[in-house]
Amino acid sequence: MSIESTTVDTTPSDASTVDPSTIDPGTVDLSTLDLSDLCYFEDGPPYALLARLREEASPHWNAVGDGETGFWSFTKAADIQAISADPETFSSARGGVFLAQDGAVPVDALRQIILGMDPPQHTRVRNIVQAVFTPRLIKQKEASIRAVATELINEVVERGECDFVDDIAVELPLRVIADMLGVPQDDRRKLFDWTNQLSRAAATADPTLGFGALLEIGGYISALTAARAADPQDDLISRLIEATVDGEKLTEAEVTYFFALLMFAGNDTTRNTTAGAMRALINNPDQRDLLLEDPSLIDTAIEEFLRWVSPVIYFTRTAQRDVEVGGQLVKEGERVAMWYSAGSRDPERHENPETFDVTRVKPRHQAFGGGGPHFCLGNALARLELRVLFEELLRRVPDMTITGPVTRLTSNFSNELTSMPVRFTPGVREPVKES
Ligand code: HEM
Repeated sequence: MSIESTTVDTTPSDASTVDPSTIDPGTVDLSTLDLSDLCYFEDGPPYALLARLREEASPHWNAVGDGETGFWSFTKAADIQAISADPETFSSARGGVFLAQDGAVPVDALRQIILGMDPPQHTRVRNIVQAVFTPRLIKQKEASIRAVATELINEVVERGECDFVDDIAVELPLRVIADMLGVPQDDRRKLFDWTNQLSRAAATADPTLGFGALLEIGGYISALTAARAADPQDDLISRLIEATVDGEKLTEAEVTYFFALLMFAGNDTTRNTTAGAMRALINNPDQRDLLLEDPSLIDTAIEEFLRWVSPVIYFTRTAQRDVEVGGQLVKEGERVAMWYSAGSRDPERHENPETFDVTRVKPRHQAFGGGGPHFCLGNALARLELRVLFEELLRRVPDMTITGPVTRLTSNFSNELTSMPVRFTPGVREPVKES
């Protein structure tokens, strides 16, 4: 049997006047509910509360502070999809993509990054990075990803215990992206610390913290970019510098910003999905047994992992004109939050959405966003990393249990475990053979 409890390791917003232990999702007064208050996120995304919003107040006007400002919360998958599909109406550049306008990074800085761009700038940059970040390139990464997964398991397997987050979940995406970038081994921890800083900045809406991290990542990566511009190698940075689509190229600064984003977008998200999925497998032994008995279920299981964890809890947009969504008039200049955690559990799209079911066929989750032009560029890489890692984990450490408190970041943006001590039968089992 697993011993499991959840504690928090960050302090909720000072502004909170709500005692988290008193929150009852069934009776919370929706007219005063403020999801920018971290008290609702102490145990992770407040699924019951989001479900209630979806049923009773979709969309929900979330007043902030004195009520002068606020945002619309969208919790239905169809509405999130409609907003995502229309960047001309719902801008990422105008007010950023975080609830606090100057959330993890100031809006001006965010506009330099693909995530915070609008068309036509976004279209131009996206076309160029997509020309490099191809499915073929990702597929070629499988062997090196498997080598990393094998190495990580080798490092813990004889011990019979580890911290799953620190030793496995953190390390895989970090090493994969660092490899793609050609970052030397010794510098990898530094990059990891910067991405953590960004994630905490998004959680606490501290732009100074986030901007500081972005500058440091930017400084580090711009040195790499300049070196590759002068002396191209067979790596992703060199290819991006050289890539041309319709006569358009990225500037050196755009390449730098893109890689700074990858450190953030590709790291935390994959890590958090890995940790949350392993926790779900341990807590649902029948589902783990299904996978152990029939490893061919792995692809459907990965989609369920993504649906279940949806590690990016929300992104926002700003309306560029008066527009109706979900039966509600959203006025020009108003901000909308798309709660992906809610969209991924919308009963309109998923039967028994609160059940973790690795046999669910092609769930239309919103872990990678609601579709549209900003849809996660790294989705194929993330899926590959998850598949390879879980193939290796299930084969080599099939009996993991949780042995101590699981801790998490208190965040309304990132569904993130920070520690999960686990135990398993020690001993080396053969890695999965390359298919
Ligand atoms: C499980 C892992 C991941 C999840 C859940 C995830 C989730 C997301 C989400 C929700 C968005 C925003 C979508 C939107 O606004 O419509 C996004 C965008 C993005 N992601 Fe991911 N991501 C993951 C892994 C990765 C990886 C591995 C990479 C690359 C190494 C990556 C690169 C990006 C980029 C570049 C964007 C911005 C795309 C744009 O604005 O056009 N992501 N991701």
